[in-house]
This record gives sequence, structure tokens and C-alpha cells, in this order.
Amino acid sequence: MTLRQPSMLAVMSIPPTTNQAQGPAIHVQGLEKSYKDLRVLRGVDFDVARGGIFALLGSNGAGKTTVVKILSTLLKADAGTAGVNGFDVATQAADVRESISLTGQFAAVDEILSGRENLVLVARLRHLKDPGAIADDLLERFSLTEAGARRVATYSGGMRRRLDIAMSLIGNPPVIFLDEPTTGLDPQARIEVWQAVKELADRGTTVLLTTQYLDEAEQLADRIAILHQGRIIVNGTLAELKQLLPPAKVEYVEKQPTLEDVFLTLVGAGGKNGDAYKGSQDHKTRSNKK
Ligand SMILES: Nc1ncnc2c1ncn2[C@@H]1O[C@H](COP(=O)(O)OP(=O)(O)OP(=O)(O)O)[C@@H](O)[C@H]1O
Ligand SMILES: [Mg+2]
Repeated sequence: MTLRQPSMLAVMSIPPTTNQAQGPAIHVQGLEKSYKDLRVLRGVDFDVARGGIFALLGSNGAGKTTVVKILSTLLKADAGTAGVNGFDVATQAADVRESISLTGQFAAVDEILSGRENLVLVARLRHLKDPGAIADDLLERFSLTEAGARRVATYSGGMRRRLDIAMSLIGNPPVIFLDEPTTGLDPQARIEVWQAVKELADRGTTVLLTTQYLDEAEQLADRIAILHQGRIIVNGTLAELKQLLPPAKVEYVEKQPTLEDVFLTLVGAGGKNGDAYKGSQDHKTRSNKK
């Protein structure tokens, strides 16, 4: 599978450039935000360690995108402080923007351009050398080489989302925000995105992702926080979160394959990604060890 080849991470192997001293990559304290009478954030606190993957969970309308918008300087908080890569989002917005990339909830790709042209455009905007080579490398990593010359208007939702994430990796920012990165993707594409996110974190990039998929948080995140009624109601590792419930009783259960196992076995074997089923099992093994 393309995403698992180490050579594809050439762009990411450069150490993050805009790196401020030590401390958490993201620091959020007492964050408040209202839209008129609607109090969405009522005092949100959390930290994200450097190189960690932090999942922000919450129901529709909980305020996840609002948090991401404040951290990426697109929106001003009413109260509280937030720092990204050591820079304050309110007073050092330009430095914050230099340190991050944002893949929004809705794909931000140019429909008229081809996938390759989109990537080249972003690499040019970031003043990088050899935009064409960067684009080709990312197209390969995200299994888009064949579609690279086609207009994005002809892409499927999953292809669009992969291109969108690929665009956010250009320039190797130390902190990446992914707002619902796998919504609308098929199981194989989700696993490809998960693999890419893990590889990013392995190379020291800090990832904050929002999701409504609990399994996504289980597979990916070092720490998981739940945003509910304007506050973080729990924040911990998966093991810590599981301890909040009474210990499991040991019962004999005959394990049936899940529909996802069946789908990945059938589609993965004949499709572009022959080891997708194995990949899904690997994820489970790893998450069970947590
Ligand atoms: N610009 C805005 N003006 C008014 N209300 C807004 C605005 N943006 C968001 N809201 C409201 O604030 C609340 C939080 O929205 P937000 O998009 O942050 O939630 P979310 O957790 O990302 O939800 P989802 O899972 O559906 O993406 C929602 O009730 C939403 O309707
Ligand atoms: Mg949202």
C-alpha cells in the first residue's frame, strides 16, 4: 500500500522548522466563545504534548470546529488564552499561522485545477523549492498519482479529502489540525488516512484532530478529550478513560467478524490495498495494548 512506504515521507522527514522552545505544542486555558446568545465554549482547558495525537470528541454542535478555528486564528475567543507552538493566538497570530496547517471539515481544494496543480500552487505559495517534486511525492503517498492530472471536479469525496490532507502537509508545519479528517471516507481510505496521521506523529508533528467516530479516536489518539456542554468533561489516555467505567466482567463470547472486517477482506484483497484487512487487525492489536 502506497502510504506505508517510508520513501513517501520524504517531505515530512525534514525536521519541523518553526519550532519554539519547550512546553506543550498546544495550550488552552479558560477558552470561552458565544455566538450571540449561544454559549458554545464555557471554559475549555487542555494541553497537547509535542508529537502527540490529541482527539477532541463531541457530538454535532459541541464546539469542536469552534475550538479549531480559534486555535488556527480564524476566530477570536471571547475569553481565555490559547497558545500554539509557544505563540499566543491573539497577540502572535502570524507566528501561529507559520506553525500550523489546517484541514477543515469541508475540503478546501480548487475544483477547476487538477490535483497536481493544487499541490504545486500551495508549494509555490509557501515558497518551497521544486514544487513539482513535492506534488508528485504527495500524490504518490496518497494514491493519487493516476488522478493527478485530472480536474478535482471529477474526484470522488475520498480522493478530494486525501488531496486536502496532502495539501496541508506541504511545508512540514509542526502542528496540524484535522477537523473530522475521515468523514465520508470508505473504510480503506480511512485506514490510509489513519496511517498517514500516525506517520506524521512518529516524525514529531503534533496532531489535533476532531472526530465523531469513537473508533477513530481509539485507533489514533494518545489522548482523548470529550467536549460537552461547553467544557472538557474528560481528558486522558484510552486506558484512563476506560477506567472510568466499572471493570469488565469476563464472559465467553464467540467473536464474529465485524462488517468492516468482511468489507476489508473482500474489497482489500482485490482492490488497490491488498493488506488493508491485516492493517485493520494491527490497529486493533495496538489499541488493545493501551
Ligand atoms: N458563525 C456562527 N454563527 C452562529 N452560530 C454558530 C456559528 N458557528 C457555529 N455556530 C454554532 O455553534 C455551535 C458549535 O458549532 P461547531 O461548528 O463548533 O460544532 P462542532 O462540534 O464542530 O459540530 P459538528 O460535529 O457538527 O461539526 C453549533 O450550535 C453551531 O450552530
Ligand atoms: Mg465541526
